[in-house]
Amino acid sequence: MRKKIIAANWKMNQTIADAASYLDSFLLEVADEKRIDIVIVPPFTALAYVSERLSKVQHVKSGAQNMHWEKNGAFTGEISAGMIRELFARYVVLGHSERRTLFGETDEIVNKKTKAAIAATLTPIVCIGETLAERDAGQVEQVLHTQLTGSLAGIPAKELADVVLAYEPVWAIGTGRTATPEQAQEAHAYIRKVLAEISDAATAEKVRIQYGGSVKPGNTGALMGQPDIDGALVGGASLVARDFAEIVKISA
Ligand code: G3P
Repeated sequence: MRKKIIAANWKMNQTIADAASYLDSFLLEVADEKRIDIVIVPPFTALAYVSERLSKVQHVKSGAQNMHWEKNGAFTGEISAGMIRELFARYVVLGHSERRTLFGETDEIVNKKTKAAIAATLTPIVCIGETLAERDAGQVEQVLHTQLTGSLAGIPAKELADVVLAYEPVWAIGTGRTATPEQAQEAHAYIRKVLAEISDAATAEKVRIQYGGSVKPGNTGALMGQPDIDGALVGGASLVARDFAEIVKISA
């Protein structure tokens, strides 16, 4: 049985002051929810504060929204895995569709970042997902297969088992148009099939696959009830402490 993992991707939102009041109420709401892994992924400017607050809480961890694959160097504006780890953050979201489309991240880049994250003992949350045009063209499996084999290339089964994947159909992100539980389960089952191909069946069974794309308290139960959905990567609904706490409680 895979332990569920629910993550809040705040994207470019929340100041340190916002994070302080958010955590004041959120941590009270989920104080007893120790049955699942909870991750808060703030902007870099709030990551030190959030990580420090969460260092005192066993079942809630912090994460970064991105990183560079080099350890250091002339990469203006970038942050390394070691710098994230120094803040006691434990996760890093990689290959989010917004980084793939807005900042030109390729599967090759995501693969370099994933390997660097693992080397720095960060747990990667690697995002994949098709666009509406690709879905309408019947290319979902082709797209997912390419993204998985490219983003996870050369990662040994032992390390792959601890990587978290996030299936985020691009057409469901921020649109309010959530994938149906059946659509999401179909994609997750295919992802697990590909994981077995690129590693082995036992490893594929261990990998946790989150769903992301307009997750709300109202649709969480049906999504989390699917056999191959092991959690959620939540954007908009995670910005309100009460709503994200509700999603956590329903998922537990
Ligand atoms: O990373 C999660 C995010 O892409 C989903 O956003 O607003 O559809 O929950 P949202």
